[in-house]
Amino acid sequence: MATDFTEETAADAVVDSFAKTPDPRLRELLSGLVGHLHAFVRETEPTIAEWERAIEFLTATGQKCDDERQEFILLSDVLGFSSLVDLINAADGATESTVLGPFYVPGAPVRAMGEQLGRPEDGSPTLVRGRVTDPAGDPLDGASLDVWQSSSNGLYDTQDPRQPPFNLRGVFVTGPDGLYQFRTVRPASYPVPTDGPVGDLLRGAGRHNWRAAHIHAIVSAPGRRPVTTHIFDAENPYLDSDTVFGVKDSLVRPFRPAGPGDPPDVSYVTEMDFSLAAQDDG
Ligand code: BEZ
Ligand code: FE
Repeated sequence: MATDFTEETAADAVVDSFAKTPDPRLRELLSGLVGHLHAFVRETEPTIAEWERAIEFLTATGQKCDDERQEFILLSDVLGFSSLVDLINAADGATESTVLGPFYVPGAPVRAMGEQLGRPEDGSPTLVRGRVTDPAGDPLDGASLDVWQSSSNGLYDTQDPRQPPFNLRGVFVTGPDGLYQFRTVRPASYPVPTDGPVGDLLRGAGRHNWRAAHIHAIVSAPGRRPVTTHIFDAENPYLDSDTVFGVKDSLVRPFRPAGPGDPPDVSYVTEMDFSLAAQDDG
């Protein structure tokens, strides 16, 4: 009966309306969503004006999305949802994953091992090297590292008309020893876009919009579960307050000054091994 819809019974009434949802997982998700949203509303008691403002915000978030901009993912990122979903789906023994972000471009060129990714004006030349293994430490042959990063001006090639396409992007494929190396530039911190509703949210909350400096990598290998991750610079000031909550201690690496024994054309060296779980492991 409609008259039974009171503050006390509202959540149960809506949950009950989904009771016949044939897919049990969908039923679980809808019931949980309704239960938590109703509890939030009962607890915070929004005014009609606040409810309208929330609808306006979500509408503007959708309207900001197009083929190149995904404001809902950015919202999920700054609320920490993306990183939480990531943590829940982690595979045992594999390198920890973190957010993909909006700047990945598929189809980067396959490059020779050791090749330089950027131009001299992109930043301090840096050698990145390591090994791709399984969780037992055995090297993976034919593993692919798809890497990308921003220039020292904080912009990705897709945001900066002065950078050529696929600047600071490339794919490296390991041999039987699992080893990889490439030359790039030491990454810089950069701000996430704030010209949309997520920017309004960050400003309204007095939060900054900086990401801790990082190099992105999607590491994959035949029969292995791919990992989407970052290498973070240990000296970066935003490690503790990354605006998308993407930093994990296991992904932070020193970028040490190059010394005797290092290639003469680089200023910094950083080392990062990657471990990939079998495709069917948790
Ligand atoms: C990025 O690292 O490219 C990124 C991640 C999340 C939001 C914005 C940018
Ligand atoms: Fe990034």
